[in-house]
Amino acid sequence: MSPNLALHELAAARRAAGDPLVHMAFGEARLPLLPGFRRRLVDGAERAGYGPVAGSPAVRREVAGWFARRRVPTDSDQIVVGPGTKPLLMAIQLATAGDVVLPRPAWNSYGPQVGYAGKRAVRVDIPEESGGVPSPDGLRAAIADARSAGRRVGAVVVTIPDNPTGTFAPPALVRELCEVAEAEDLLVVSDEIYRDTVHDGRSDTLLSPAEVAPTRTVVTTGLSKSLAVGGWRIGAARFPAGPEGEELRDRVVAIASDVWTALAGPMDAVAEYAFSEPAEVRRRLAASVRLHGAVATAVHDIVTSAGAACRTPTAAFYVYPDFEALREPLADRGATDSASLAEVLLDAGLLVLAGHHLGDHRGALRCKMATSLLYGEDDDELHAALDAPDPTALPHIRDSLDRIEEGLARLTGRVGARV
Ligand SMILES: Cc1ncc(COP(=O)(O)O)c(C=O)c1O
Repeated sequence: MSPNLALHELAAARRAAGDPLVHMAFGEARLPLLPGFRRRLVDGAERAGYGPVAGSPAVRREVAGWFARRRVPTDSDQIVVGPGTKPLLMAIQLATAGDVVLPRPAWNSYGPQVGYAGKRAVRVDIPEESGGVPSPDGLRAAIADARSAGRRVGAVVVTIPDNPTGTFAPPALVRELCEVAEAEDLLVVSDEIYRDTVHDGRSDTLLSPAEVAPTRTVVTTGLSKSLAVGGWRIGAARFPAGPEGEELRDRVVAIASDVWTALAGPMDAVAEYAFSEPAEVRRRLAASVRLHGAVATAVHDIVTSAGAACRTPTAAFYVYPDFEALREPLADRGATDSASLAEVLLDAGLLVLAGHHLGDHRGALRCKMATSLLYGEDDDELHAALDAPDPTALPHIRDSLDRIEEGLARLTGRVGARV
């Protein structure tokens, strides 16, 4: 079972038993359901028959428009919608050949998916400044190593913006990645599910590889993160224009036809509405990125005040601290690698996802903290968090932040500066 899903169940059991655990091990964007979504879902109940495998013409048109508004002109025929991006990413792995380069660290399901497809994952470290894209030098070296071992790297998966680091690759890095992809004939799979979660709301600062290397980039995106309907399972993939892109899309559609048939009819109706970006969606995105930014920044301040190194979060709802500078005090408490770090953090009341689950080096003292679970437990708390000028001052969020600070202070022996 995916470690994040397993930890989510552990957290539910411990909390039900009265343990006031701060749960940061699950990347669920917790936001209230938009009223328009509820209405579309009810109306969409009429769509009870099997729909077209790639999605209805109407939803594909709206998704194409969503990409076009993000500087990526798209025809409806390039779009396939499905029950979440996870199965779409799996189908892309099944439909392509060769070893697959993954950033280290990266979202925990890419590695298993590559394995299920009978392929080999090659991990390449991310650079200092940002996550989601492997360092170009590391990528070149990995390709050369594979070649000298008689293997071929066929694809590189990137996450822009990134889970787990909560950052996004700067345009220069994306251009360099695309240069390597062009030179080495790689498919770029760009997972852009966090595209609409850039904290300052300026998603125009984000460059997609689809803008730079359009004939060799597949983009996936979905509604689970930006609009918090992960349980509704709505995802979309955009394939390159031209014969090679069409061939890949056809292979993915063939897999879809034999595995999930089509996006559920009511969800097709919701997706058509959401990707058209009506006013309520635009307002929600604007409010939610402020909230993501405020809480992720507060947690970042706490971990860095406690002595960890951590990239400044600029998107999504994660921080990825590195406790290397605290190796000695942590070793005194039994934390000597990523797995034992997560254990001692759990003893201190903090549930995190250990870095090795994300493909990171086992010996590194790194973990992922998902900050969106701090927004609240019910609709009242979530609305208050979205509306507050300073969500970190709300008592329920402040309480979790205090407990993170106290938990870390207990472990490291350092009292962090209050944010
Ligand atoms: C980087 C990344 N890609 C894909 C997914 C899966 O999203 P979906 O709900 O669309 O399957 C997640 C969810 O955690 C994610 O973090």
